[in-house]
Amino acid sequence: MMKATPFLLGLVFLGFVSSFAQEKIWNETAEQKEKRLKWWTEDRFGMFIHWGLYALPARHEWVRNRERITNEDYQKYFEQFNPDLYNPREWAKMAKRAGMKYAVITSKHHEGFTLFDSQHTDYKATNTPYGKDLLREWVEAFRAEGLKIGFYYSLIDWHHPHFTVDRIHPLRKETAAEYRKVNKGRDMAKYRKYLHDQVREILTDYGEVDILWLDFSYPGEFGKDREDWGSVELLKMVRELQPKIIVNNRADLEGFNGGGDFVTPEQFKVPEWPTVNGEKVPWETCQTFSGSWGYYRDENTWKNTKQLLVLLIETVSKGGNLLLNVGPTARGTIDERAQHSLKRIGDWMKFNSPSIYGCTQAPKSYKVPQNTLLTYNKKKHRLYVHLLDYPLQNFVLEDYKGKVKYAQFLHDGSEIQMKEPYGHAFDFEMGEKDVNLALPVVKPNMEIPVIELILH
Ligand code: GLC
Repeated sequence: MMKATPFLLGLVFLGFVSSFAQEKIWNETAEQKEKRLKWWTEDRFGMFIHWGLYALPARHEWVRNRERITNEDYQKYFEQFNPDLYNPREWAKMAKRAGMKYAVITSKHHEGFTLFDSQHTDYKATNTPYGKDLLREWVEAFRAEGLKIGFYYSLIDWHHPHFTVDRIHPLRKETAAEYRKVNKGRDMAKYRKYLHDQVREILTDYGEVDILWLDFSYPGEFGKDREDWGSVELLKMVRELQPKIIVNNRADLEGFNGGGDFVTPEQFKVPEWPTVNGEKVPWETCQTFSGSWGYYRDENTWKNTKQLLVLLIETVSKGGNLLLNVGPTARGTIDERAQHSLKRIGDWMKFNSPSIYGCTQAPKSYKVPQNTLLTYNKKKHRLYVHLLDYPLQNFVLEDYKGKVKYAQFLHDGSEIQMKEPYGHAFDFEMGEKDVNLALPVVKPNMEIPVIELILH
């Protein structure tokens, strides 16, 4: 038993004080949070939409940063912006057919241009040749198709005169002296108020908003953190305006109750279910079809259908959500490459979505067969085996004896018989706790066939 020395007592006291020192955004319990996130956790799959003036240069949404473009030199895109083919109902139908259950659109990206008719800026879609609020039409269209709606809002703003130049700004410098000089006259407090005012607008003027996707903090030298954004006050306002809303984790509020609801690994695959302080946490990975979030005409690193489906299945197999991005063109269309990918995903989801919706990581008691991914529906007590490589005849489930009541292909509901393995000219030994599924030699016409196991 450790002696309660003054040093140890001091540590305990500091820990006690620091737990209260962090401002409370609200006092939601773990159970209340789980209930609030239930629809999102079950829906699993959403559409991310990156759309703004950067669709005109059509070479990445960070083009201003990459090419150090000034406000003046970027103005030509504002003057040219007129998405005459914009029809968000078409977008919503594509998302729905792909099996997406929610969608998040960039109401404002780092460039500072707003798709919505903000009363706090002239740098908005309503002042371009297009002349209308793009966000309102989008909200109505996606709600009409039954999808939940979310707003991405960039904390960063490379256009605003009071947003101070920092290490990722198009006007970024090298030395502290240069930063002092370039930021002379810029008042970050004025930008902070603008930021809060605009978030208030998008959470007040468009009805119930299901998701707020803030992006992003970069603390450290010449960076920006929660103090710059006023994140604690911002999230208190968000929770007050929209108590049911689900918010991501990029306002630099790790550890604050209510500071962010899910973690957001992007553009890579997590090795396992992400944890914070050893606890599994809600998570959503955001990913692109290709190497850019915004429309990038000449970028060709497009993932193929199998890669995209494995991304979705693997995400759910680790208890997460996938937010898959499209970058519409300057005309307001989703380009044919993205449409093709969405259609192929939808072809698979049409028959196999029960292995995605309402599913999560399988219990450890079910061993993962080679070249497969498992997902599990706890409520239905069903296990889904995704065949990434198609086995030949015998498919042995190790240690599944007594666990499986019935097996079928998910896509057509045809029975898969559990019987002694096929073997010719060689004795095939199977463990006494194993179960063999007799598969047809011909692989079903499914990008990734799924076996549904009805469990005891
Ligand atoms: C990164 C990029 C940003 C993109 C975001 C999506 O933060 O900076 O352009 O919107 O990822 O998660």
